[in-house]
This record gives sequence, C-alpha cells and structure tokens, in this order.
Amino acid sequence: MARKQAIHVGLDLGTHKTSVLVAAMQDDGPHVIGLGTAPSQGLKRGVVVNIDSTVHGIQRAVREAEIMADCEIHSVVVSASGSHVRGFNSHGMVPIKGREVCPADIELVLDAAKAVALPMDRQVLHVVPQEYIIDDQDGIKQPQGMAGVRLEARVHVLTAATAAVQNVVKCCERSGLEVSQVVLAPLASAYAVLTEEERDLGVAMIDIGGGTTDLVVYQGGAVRHTAVLGLGGSHLTNDIAAGLRTPPQEAEKLKQRFGCALASSVGNDDMIEVPSVGGRGPRVLARQILAEIIEPRVEEILGLVSQEASRAGVENLLSSGVVLTGGTASLDGIVGLAERVFHLPVRIGAPSQAGGGLADIVSGPGYATGVGLLLGAHAPAQDLVAAAAAGAGSQGVLSKVKHRMGDWLREFF
Ligand SMILES: Nc1ncnc2c1ncn2[C@@H]1O[C@H](COP(=O)(O)OP(=O)(O)OP(=O)(O)O)[C@@H](O)[C@H]1O
Ligand SMILES: [Mg+2]
Repeated sequence: MARKQAIHVGLDLGTHKTSVLVAAMQDDGPHVIGLGTAPSQGLKRGVVVNIDSTVHGIQRAVREAEIMADCEIHSVVVSASGSHVRGFNSHGMVPIKGREVCPADIELVLDAAKAVALPMDRQVLHVVPQEYIIDDQDGIKQPQGMAGVRLEARVHVLTAATAAVQNVVKCCERSGLEVSQVVLAPLASAYAVLTEEERDLGVAMIDIGGGTTDLVVYQGGAVRHTAVLGLGGSHLTNDIAAGLRTPPQEAEKLKQRFGCALASSVGNDDMIEVPSVGGRGPRVLARQILAEIIEPRVEEILGLVSQEASRAGVENLLSSGVVLTGGTASLDGIVGLAERVFHLPVRIGAPSQAGGGLADIVSGPGYATGVGLLLGAHAPAQDLVAAAAAGAGSQGVLSKVKHRMGDWLREFF
C-alpha cells in the first residue's frame, strides 16, 4: 500500500455518518479515488460528545478509504459544525505602505477586520472577504497590484467554540491523523453545490444533515450570512419512531424508502408495512400517515431557517432562490415544501465538481461537505488567503494546524 501520487483527503465528521473522501488533484479538480463511511455514534447536533466512539468511526472510515484508494492516509482536512458556529460581518482598514497593494497589505487588512473582541472560549476559524475598498473605490475583488493610499476590507468572520474545534482535532489525532485544516461544514457544502451565477445573484444554501441544518447566504459573489441550527433528519426519524411505535432503525428505513415531505402528494391507497416494538407483529398503515408525521417537522426546520434569514436581514438577497443539500435533501417532496415555505424557486444541490471513478456516488447531496473539503484547493484564491489569515489567530491545539495549513495552501498557490 504506497501510492506515490499526491492525494488530498476530506474527513466529514457528520452527526449521522463519518465519511472520508480521497482525491487525486487534477487540473479540472479533485478526482475521487477512495471513499470510506461509518455511522457516527459520538456526535450530537454536529458536536463531538464521545471521543472514543468518534475515533472508532473515523478509523473505520479511514481504513475503508485507504483500501479503496490503495494509499495510506496521514493528513486530512476535517469539517466542524454545531450550533456554536456564529458568522458576522466585519470591516478593517490599513494604509497602503508602498505604491501598490501587496500580499502583506491584504494580510494586514484581513487581520484588522477580524480583530474583534471575542469571549475567551471562542476563536475565529475563517475570514471570508466580501469586497475590498481602495480609497473610495468599492467593489474590488482582487486588490493586489492596485494603486492607492488606503485599503479597506469587508469580510464575513466565522467563529466557533474553541473546545468543540479542539475535540474534532483531538479525535483526528487519536485516530493517527494530522489535521491540515479545519473547515466549517456550511462553507464546505456551499463551495460544493452553488454555481457562480447563484453566488453573484444571491442564494441561500441549506444543508439539512442528520443533527444540524446549515444556512449560508451568498450575494455579490460573497458570503453574507451563515448560521447552524441544531435540528436535522434525526428529528424526523425520532418523530416517526414515536408516532408509529416502531424501532428507530425501522423508522430510519421507512423514512428513506417511503418518506415524503408533502402529505397531499401521497395517494390515499398507498399502504406500507410498519414493524412494531415489543415482539408484536407488523401493521399495515397508509403511507400518508408517515408523510403527515414528516411534513410538519420539515416545515418547522425550514421555517426556522427562513426566520433566521429574516432576522439577519438577508431574505431579500435571494434572487436565485434556495439550494437544498445534505442527506435530508433526498427526502421525496422536500422541494415542493421548501418552495411553499420560502416562496422562492428551490433546487437540490448535488456536489457535481468531483471527477473520478466514484464521482457518481459522491454526487449525492449527503456528500456535499465531503466534496467541499476537497474543493478547498480549487476555491477562490481570496477565500484561501483569508483562511490562512484566520488560521494565524488560532490557539492551543490549533496552532499546530496553522503551520500545516500554510503548507497546504503554499502547495497550491
Ligand atoms: N432518501 C432519504 N430520505 C430522507 N432522509 C434521508 C435520505 N437519505 C438520507 N437521509 C437522512 O439524511 C441524514 C444524514 O444526512 P448527512 O449525511 O448529510 O448528515 P451528516 O452530515 O452526518 O450530519 P450533520 O451534517 O447534521 O452533522 C440522516 O438523518 C438520514 O436519515
Ligand atoms: Mg453534514
């Protein structure tokens, strides 16, 4: 087992599943050559709550991916999530020292933009530039080389609870893996499923996973708002298990096989067999009953996302509509329900930019974050400069990550 080719590995530590994607980087993007998945048992609502179970899942998924890709995995880009993630817009300003803007000026202005007072237990994970302003000229995306005396940056800053991020890094290290970068899952998913036109016109990406629902709003080619809610597909499963008095594993199967988010679209004579608990025999029920359990919960989740967008004042930026992704986006009828909630066009976002033999499998919405982690190397250069700047503010366990992240970035730019 010793493939010499340069490979990149994305580790998506989800609440429902842990997935490891191995890619060979080619000119047209990542080619996925290995995939390993394992059920996640140590996470709740996107956050590690049991180190041993999480490490077990990571090791299982890594082993599977190594065998498939015929390589050894030493270093990963890992996702982090949870409702502790906060995003806010900020602004920085510096004088331009030479005659034109150089990379050091950009680094300084991004540092200035992220220099906000944070509670001791939180840290900056990403500083994503929205636009640069030189003197009074705004709307600049690439300031390098431009003349002026004053450089300003408008940015979106993403912060996370330090302990939650440290636990993610700890789980990787206990699994024998180096962490080259920690990327917030919402950003990774958005990289993977949104088109450039959508980002320019304005769009809301909603990743509904097992335990979290992520919102990222883009407009004018830049991130305007992010939020993570601690609700997801596992709540649907729990509702089905309680409502139909069936074991959770059976509720999960029923949801995936027969679930529908629009009860009105299910035929009256459509019947399903529902296993019972306590050794009782299975029952035959109308599929509509299952849909009537699912619909209000999905409506609640999407309604909360809509409220979050209104609260942040970004609901009017969504000219190109809503893109749903994450495993729960595979639920039948979810597009119709989301269109009813948002009064906007809705589509399912599949991460289609990955090539290679496994492209078909990883183009399912449940792999949006995993593919997004691989796309980091092909992300807009200004986002990566910002990621490097954000890394410089990390502390503790993450200070080690900072240096490796710098190497990872230099390798590609
Ligand atoms: N066909 C389907 N119909 C309905 N739900 C589905 C379907 N396929 C998967 N799901 C649900 O998607 C969820 C898993 O999605 P995903 O893999 O994106 O989650 P995750 O990334 O592990 O979790 P999170 O992002 O919340 O931490 C589960 O709740 C699962 O039941
Ligand atoms: Mg996820």
